[in-house]
Amino acid sequence: MDPVQEGRVVIVGSGLIGCSWAMLFASGGFQVKLYDIVQEQVTKALEKIGKELKELGKTGMLKGTLTADKQLSLISGCTDLKAAVEGAIYLQECTPENLELKKKIFGQLDLIVSNDVILGSSTSCLMPSKLFTGLKHVKQCIVAHPVNPPYYVPLVELVPHPETEPSTVEKTYALMKKIGQSPVRLTKEIDGFALNRLQYAIISEAWRLVGDGVISSDDLDLVMSDGLGMRYAFIGPLETMHLNAEGMLNYCDRYREGMIRVLKTFGPIPDFAGKTEQKINQVQRLKR
Ligand code: NAI
Repeated sequence: MDPVQEGRVVIVGSGLIGCSWAMLFASGGFQVKLYDIVQEQVTKALEKIGKELKELGKTGMLKGTLTADKQLSLISGCTDLKAAVEGAIYLQECTPENLELKKKIFGQLDLIVSNDVILGSSTSCLMPSKLFTGLKHVKQCIVAHPVNPPYYVPLVELVPHPETEPSTVEKTYALMKKIGQSPVRLTKEIDGFALNRLQYAIISEAWRLVGDGVISSDDLDLVMSDGLGMRYAFIGPLETMHLNAEGMLNYCDRYREGMIRVLKTFGPIPDFAGKTEQKINQVQRLKR
């Protein structure tokens, strides 16, 4: 990573995710304006970031090549949105997951931003077409969904609106790489994006297996933590297929029938309530 960069980044909303983004951009050498509606919240956020950066510096876990003090000096607080966005190259919205609130904020931003700044949203599950449709600057808008905690988990899902310019996607991708994140591009929006769709597929089958009494809640978690998850911590499911046989074509030849047979036995979507919820909760609540 390079030292201090040209260009300023704005974070809108200085909660859990906003603070993480501020630290990530500062680690990449970018000046960061951390905006929130209340000064008290901004002050608290800056204090929290200062403490965390110092701690990360002491334990050798700090990202980037700049010292903790230098990174902290790149981040400043702000409660004036117009001043915050002036001259910015990128904005990351991190306000609460509420469609009406986010639409209002992007509507405000639409009136004051230049034609160059990219407007990213951290939303976990709101679709770009819900957030950005009708905005004058829709070409510059994109969902950039991080995974909690973003400082330690590098994946960022980039999800365009149908009218997002390809250059917006490419510039956001390059920026994420520059700050050490691991961006992935979805070519079109889909509910749950990619990560949550995979996560929910796993959760559903876990739920059915425990609900049907096939396996205990603890053992189900071991299947993942001491089995499947160990593979997937290093390589994805498709590369695993390729390496688990003599290549992908050979894997499909060998396992196609078996996979389809097993998949046909999957049950309906669980309701995540009732008896199975009680059963799983009884075990899991002891772990808090
Ligand atoms: P949070 O509740 O910790 O922070 C939200 C911040 O937004 C607060 O500081 C609040 O004062 C501020 N805010 C409220 N109204 C505002 C306004 N009009 N203008 C500017 N700031 C305003 O929320 P959190 O957890 O940081 O989530 C932010 C976004 O990130 C959400 O969309 C969430 O879905 C997404 N996200 C959250 C993850 C998580 O695990 N917490 C993971 C990935 C994405």
